[in-house]
Amino acid sequence: MAQKSRVRLIDQIIFGLSVFLAFCLVFDSFVELPVLVAWLGRWHPVILHFPIVLLLITVFLGLTGKQIPVNLLAIAVISVLVTAISGFFLGKEANVKGDLMFWHQWLGSGLAALAVLWYWLVRKDLQQKIFTKVLQVVLIGMVLFTGHYGGMVTHGEDFLALPNKKRLEKIPENPLIYQDIVGRILDDRCVSCHNPNKKKGELVMTGINEMLKGGEAGNTLVVGDPENSEMIKRLHLPLEEEEHMPPEGKKQLDGSEIQILERWIALGASDTLRLNHLTSSEPLAALINDLMQPDPMEQWAKLPQVADSTIQRLSSDYLTISRMAGNSNALSVDVFSPPEYDANDIISLKRVATNIVELDVSGLPIGKSEVDEIATFQNLEWLEIDKTPIGDVEFEALKTLQQLKLLKIFETNITDQSIAVVKSLQNLKSLYLWETGVSEDAMGEMIKEMPSLQVEAGIDEEVRTFFVANDSIPKAEEENK
Ligand code: HEC
Repeated sequence: MAQKSRVRLIDQIIFGLSVFLAFCLVFDSFVELPVLVAWLGRWHPVILHFPIVLLLITVFLGLTGKQIPVNLLAIAVISVLVTAISGFFLGKEANVKGDLMFWHQWLGSGLAALAVLWYWLVRKDLQQKIFTKVLQVVLIGMVLFTGHYGGMVTHGEDFLALPNKKRLEKIPENPLIYQDIVGRILDDRCVSCHNPNKKKGELVMTGINEMLKGGEAGNTLVVGDPENSEMIKRLHLPLEEEEHMPPEGKKQLDGSEIQILERWIALGASDTLRLNHLTSSEPLAALINDLMQPDPMEQWAKLPQVADSTIQRLSSDYLTISRMAGNSNALSVDVFSPPEYDANDIISLKRVATNIVELDVSGLPIGKSEVDEIATFQNLEWLEIDKTPIGDVEFEALKTLQQLKLLKIFETNITDQSIAVVKSLQNLKSLYLWETGVSEDAMGEMIKEMPSLQVEAGIDEEVRTFFVANDSIPKAEEENK
């Protein structure tokens, strides 16, 4: 009696799970999973080993004419159902289902259905019938195929959140524009949906020829004409528009990535073009050079150690030294205008000269000796030396600062003569220059010669007030005392 009711219970469990699975599959697009259930889905890759082993054992027993213990069979079938359900949960988590996942899901579900059918046949004592034997062979075949597709899903592109190795690879010296730059952007942002397994819009983006072939709408890539290339047009569509690429919710391209794709298409969408084939005035060259800039954190990691005590000793009410990040040895130094200016404040920074990456001496009455000192800060990337009395003679010394990326030199006494120094700063990206002795002509010529340099040549009143207010904070405090 107890035996019977247990068997009945097992029947009910199997029936219940089957109905649940069928429900999930039929109402797939209506099912929204609570977080916990989605989490259960993560167990799919672990659970799936049980039905594989159990099915192999039971089918082996069945085919060799042995009696299959009903309990063993029940556990095998239940494990198939649970695995299929957990797989369904997991599948819900993937935003896009590719062909591989489609096949895996339906093979797995079919396998579950056949396993239930088999259980029913065995329970009806039809185990020795020829169609039961055939069914068992089919079951094994399905286990193999389901596993095969499952493996491809997991090892496929965007299913497991493994870090994208290609992106971590360093861009080589003189890169091939397509292979090392454009291709990587597409791999990162587009190929997960546009590959041979998952051709959204019938479009494959794994190679230039595939893109030239295009998708449903065509004109994916029009050589020399980015504006009429569908792949570029769609990047520019408003995010909420259906046709925007990558679809909303996916990681988007940033401005310079889009420009890189555009210039690459404009220049002929070639796969042999290299960085050194570009003239220095070609915007693509500047965009790529930017991309190849080493990560500042990595650079800064090489700087010598600075102790907190050293920083404290050098700091004063009018001189703030802060680390660029956490316990980084890269320092940012702000010098404010004390009531009685002492050149030694700046000279004393000699102790940490190689560590200073940012320096603000804006508004100070500095002279030649301080500027000469600053010129030895080899790793300086950001220098605000505006509103100081320096002229061409002092400025000349700063040509040693080859790491300089940003320079504020407005409201000083420099003239056209100093432009040569600016031009020699290879890494300079931003220049703030107005109200100096530099002529419009010299300025214009410099801008033409340095296309990658961003020049701020004027400033509106509001911003000026902000600057003035910021630079005079300690002074104001002083006055309040
Ligand atoms: C999350 C998946 C997904 C990603 C990522 C994605 N796309 Fe798409 N793409 C689609 C879908 C779905 C369609 C088909 C529907 C449509 O035409 O809007 C499509 C269609 C297209 C088409 C039109 C093809 C044709 O001829 O009909 C182009 C062009 C395109 N995508 C470009 C891109 C580019 C470029 C990227 C990367 C920057 C990208 N896609 C990333 C899903 C994606």
